[in-house]
Amino acid sequence: MRLIIEPSYSDVSKWAAHYVAARINEANPTPEKPFVLGCPTGSSPLGMYRELIRLNKEGKVSFKNVVTFNMDEYCGIPRDHEQSYYTFMWTNFFNQIDILPENVNILNGNAEDPIKECERYEAKIERYGGIDLFLGGVGPDGHIAFNEPGSSLTSKTRMKTLTSDTIIANSRFFENNVDLVPKTALTVGVGTVLAAKSVLLIVNGHNKARALRHGVEGGISQMWTISALQMHPKAIIVADEAACGELKVDTYRYFLDIEKNNLDPNTQL
Ligand code: GLP
Repeated sequence: MRLIIEPSYSDVSKWAAHYVAARINEANPTPEKPFVLGCPTGSSPLGMYRELIRLNKEGKVSFKNVVTFNMDEYCGIPRDHEQSYYTFMWTNFFNQIDILPENVNILNGNAEDPIKECERYEAKIERYGGIDLFLGGVGPDGHIAFNEPGSSLTSKTRMKTLTSDTIIANSRFFENNVDLVPKTALTVGVGTVLAAKSVLLIVNGHNKARALRHGVEGGISQMWTISALQMHPKAIIVADEAACGELKVDTYRYFLDIEKNNLDPNTQL
């Protein structure tokens, strides 16, 4: 696993956006062989999306031949609810880039048969030959997508119950009212993320420091699903200084040292 440490959230966002753009450009995707991108929601990726929108508008990267699969979606709120991940993605990213609407895939949290919906999603990812780059954030309890503590590390897309921690954390988007936060979601599994050819997680802020410590220094554990990335052959975490607050000084120095010549995301493979 690589850990890229950047001074601030803004640097993290820029690093991630330039990395994504460089990977897409290098793949030189076509309609027959699109680049398959896994997309997260939450506040962590917002800066990266803003930077990708800018790069797109400047003609530095195109999403015409990019197919996206979102990580997760709440159950039980309408698609046009302002906090649905569908609305989040279209408002904060897709409406502002040149992606083709038919290339956007988001789980339907209101599917009549959620099990079938999850199977359909996994099958569609497979039809595209898998995800080339899965982007993600992390919850304060270490969850990736909605793979809460205790999630199987080989899990695939399915319905999950949200923990009280996550409901409280996400209530800031629901008038700070935990009762308004959906209690279940459809989510890709840890195994779905691990099956991607590469993974990039954005981890920023003091409230993620514990999750980062468990992800980088802890053992692989279902209780901190971020730690599953240790088993991925091509995983990168890009973190800001604040998120590194609980790492050992030695760990922190080690990653700064080993990555000191790798500061340009455009040249990183
Ligand atoms: C939600 C999402 C996760 C996301 C997490 C952190 O639970 N399902 O994919 O990583 O929130 O969100 P934020 O980036 O807002 O801290």
